[in-house]
Amino acid sequence: MNNAVTEQIIGEMKRRTSLVQLIGEHVTLKKAGRSHVGLCPFHAEKGPSFHVTDSEGFYYCFGCQARGDAITFLREYLGMSFREALERLSERTGIPLPSNDTGHADPSASRAARESRDRLYALNQDAASYFRSSLGPEAVSYLIEKRGLSPETIETFGVGWAPDAWDSLSGPVLNTFQRQRDAVTVGLVAQREGAGRGYYDRFRGRVMFPVYTIAGQVAGFSGRTLSSDPETPKYLNSPESEVFAKGELLFGLHQARKFIRMRGRAIVVEGNVDVLSMVQAGFQETVAPMGTALTEAQCQLLVRLSSQVVLAYDGDNAGQAATRKAAPILLAAGVNGRAVTLPRGEDPDSFVQKHGAEAFEALVASGRPLFDVIVDEAMAPFDGSVPAKARVVEALAPSFSLLATQAERDLYRKRLAASLGVLEGDLNRWLASARGRPPQSDAPAVSSPPTLSARPAPKLEKALMELLLRHASALLPFWAARDTGDLITHAGVRAVLDAALQVYERVGLLDGAMLLEMLSDAGRHDAQVAVVRILSATDPFDGDPERAFVDLCDALDAQARARDDERERAELARLSVDDPLEALRRMENTAASRAADNRGLSGG
Ligand code: UTP
Ligand code: MN
Repeated sequence: MNNAVTEQIIGEMKRRTSLVQLIGEHVTLKKAGRSHVGLCPFHAEKGPSFHVTDSEGFYYCFGCQARGDAITFLREYLGMSFREALERLSERTGIPLPSNDTGHADPSASRAARESRDRLYALNQDAASYFRSSLGPEAVSYLIEKRGLSPETIETFGVGWAPDAWDSLSGPVLNTFQRQRDAVTVGLVAQREGAGRGYYDRFRGRVMFPVYTIAGQVAGFSGRTLSSDPETPKYLNSPESEVFAKGELLFGLHQARKFIRMRGRAIVVEGNVDVLSMVQAGFQETVAPMGTALTEAQCQLLVRLSSQVVLAYDGDNAGQAATRKAAPILLAAGVNGRAVTLPRGEDPDSFVQKHGAEAFEALVASGRPLFDVIVDEAMAPFDGSVPAKARVVEALAPSFSLLATQAERDLYRKRLAASLGVLEGDLNRWLASARGRPPQSDAPAVSSPPTLSARPAPKLEKALMELLLRHASALLPFWAARDTGDLITHAGVRAVLDAALQVYERVGLLDGAMLLEMLSDAGRHDAQVAVVRILSATDPFDGDPERAFVDLCDALDAQARARDDERERAELARLSVDDPLEALRRMENTAASRAADNRGLSGG
């Protein structure tokens, strides 16, 4: 795909999208100064610290530092992929999107795919309503009496019932030919074989758990039988389709997403019923991967919401094996956390129903860090022999680089050296060569954030920064054209203006989200805060910005010249002691160049 085109299109789509309107569909916003404010949707708070500014197209939360533009909002709040976010903006603005693979604009192909997906979601949605309305006494008594679930929990998860019949969907849901075909695609029905034409229901006599996308569309179903017949599979899931990719969905994520953000952790359990029980016990941040090993895609969904996870798999061998499998995948995706060990024979469902939330929280507190799970796994067959030591080092080398901090790497290395009975220095070299990289332990710790000039910004520089940011389109071109090398002395102000200029040169306007990202990448948190403050406050200045700009630049220029003169005087003072002849030569040069300047001016 041609990047230049893409950036232009994206820029145009963002420009034509009112961020206040887009975010306003999900968050109540009130006008305040140049921006709008509301309660941050990304963390729990009582007073509003979430700012949305339309003119520069960005949002920023003073509380949790969430920031971004229309695309980041769609991705992080609604859980869309980058592509989906672009499609959504394309719909809102009417700007066509070049298709993914060909590089040629083909809005009809992606529109057709989207329309087909929307149709499948709508069908599933109707099926879910039908199943909910079919929830009869048998299923209700199972869920409430046998499984200890409350009507409220059942409601929250949209739990329903598929009647024990072969064609219960055909009347209420499959009322058009298109819908019958779609129902085959999403696996609600299957085609009859042999002589008789038509379809039969795939889910029969099952408690139906809708599986939602993070944004709340019904992607498919997980149906649990009430039968204890060992021939009947306990769960029947929707087959893979355009809308149901089991490895990219997490059961309960739609309901959990806000809580995961608010509480700063996700709890991952194995079963759907575990999710319901946990939520009922107050752990609304719980999700389940529906019987498959945790996938990278699922971890990516989680890490967007929080980088901490509690793995609470069943207290049996299968659960422990699944925990060992999940730990490196989570770490690789940037998710850290703990694994809880449940008593043998218990799952989170039985545990919280029996022992309550506090007991579960205690288990979390004593849970094993994920990296320990990996180390224990590698150490399990360890017998102290030399080949066994080498095997452990080989097995653990890739995982060390997954640790987020140097401290963790160092501490785990120390511990592992002790467990293996080897010297730490040796272990360092082995780990490094197993990874094929030079040892890094002795290198200085990962780049520390640049220290900002602690002094406050000088008045004139600050005034210029405010003026330039607030009247960016009018003034940044002048600023770009000027020789501004030594006008600004304050590192923070310079960082902001340099970044603003870069953004402007790249996209032709002051994109607030891009500016904040640059400052954040440069480790300049205080500069980010200053920018948001400036851009969201009402502009106290109502004169002519261009005039003010020229005046400020002149004043700063005068200050810079004064600094030059001061430096020159100091230099001369030093030279007149160290090297009087050189001092004399300099003074003559200065005088000559001043004279030349003056001639140039008057002769123009
Ligand atoms: P569990 O057997 O632990 O299910 O399987 P559960 O939800 O805790 O059910 P109860 O407590 O026995 O009623 C864990 C998950 O694995 C998937 C389901 O998503 C289930 O929730 N699974 C299980 C299947 O997909 N098919 C099966 O046959 C069994
Ligand atoms: Mn269970």
